[in-house]
Amino acid sequence: MSPALVIAVDGPAASGKGTIAARLATTYGLPFLDTGLLYRAVGLEVLATGGDLADEAAADRAARALDADRLSQDARLTTGEAGEAASRVAGYPGVRAALLDLQQAFARQPGGAVLDGRDIGTVIAPDAMAKLFVTATPETRARRRWRQLRDRGDDISFEAMLADILKRDERDAGRGSAPMIQASDAVLLDTTDMDIEQAFDAARRIVEAARARHTL
Ligand code: CDP
Ligand code: CDP
Repeated sequence: MSPALVIAVDGPAASGKGTIAARLATTYGLPFLDTGLLYRAVGLEVLATGGDLADEAAADRAARALDADRLSQDARLTTGEAGEAASRVAGYPGVRAALLDLQQAFARQPGGAVLDGRDIGTVIAPDAMAKLFVTATPETRARRRWRQLRDRGDDISFEAMLADILKRDERDAGRGSAPMIQASDAVLLDTTDMDIEQAFDAARRIVEAARARHTL
């Protein structure tokens, strides 16, 4: 039996990791999990129950109660507010612990899986066959996210978007629990000067090289 093709895609906000990961999953016929949605759902749940994002116990409870099978295609999950709330609750060790098993079970599926997030290559699937760390300059990422939000009618200035991105980078990379960091065996993919097609082609070549190494 050929080894499971587990692909770990990590990186900061609006680097393109989600688009690339979803396309890799389609290309290789693998199940795909956007792990950011789990943290976004927990953050929104805390807000919805009138909680305060600084209330660690409320966030822990929301994470333990999360039903990942029922993560709907709720448009609120993709808002800037949800991203910000996600990054606040993602710093709590209890939240990360509550979401660990379901992510690791997803990664262990026969044949493999694609997961994208911040700690896939380091914590969730350290033995993944292919690991990518996708990045781009903060200005490029802010422009991409600003365009995405503008296209759906959200009114935010580019300067505010850049400030959000920088704050989130700092919080995600600086936290003690599973910080955003490139795994030592991940391949860095800087998409600053690439369009999404070029970025996807580069990602596919990285995965092909990893597969070739594993079948030697
Ligand atoms: O798409 P974008 O990068 O903006 O956000 P996301 O991937 O949905 O993640 C939202 C937030 O969840 C991040 O800023 C992280 O704080 C957190 N997150 C995490 O800590 N670990 C993951 N595996 C995925 C997301
Ligand atoms: O998942 P993540 O937050 O890292 O980013 P994404 O949602 O996949 O990408 C953010 C936006 O940037 C999307 O509209 C992508 O199509 C776009 N993008 C791009 O224009 N060029 C790239 N090289 C990568 C992403």
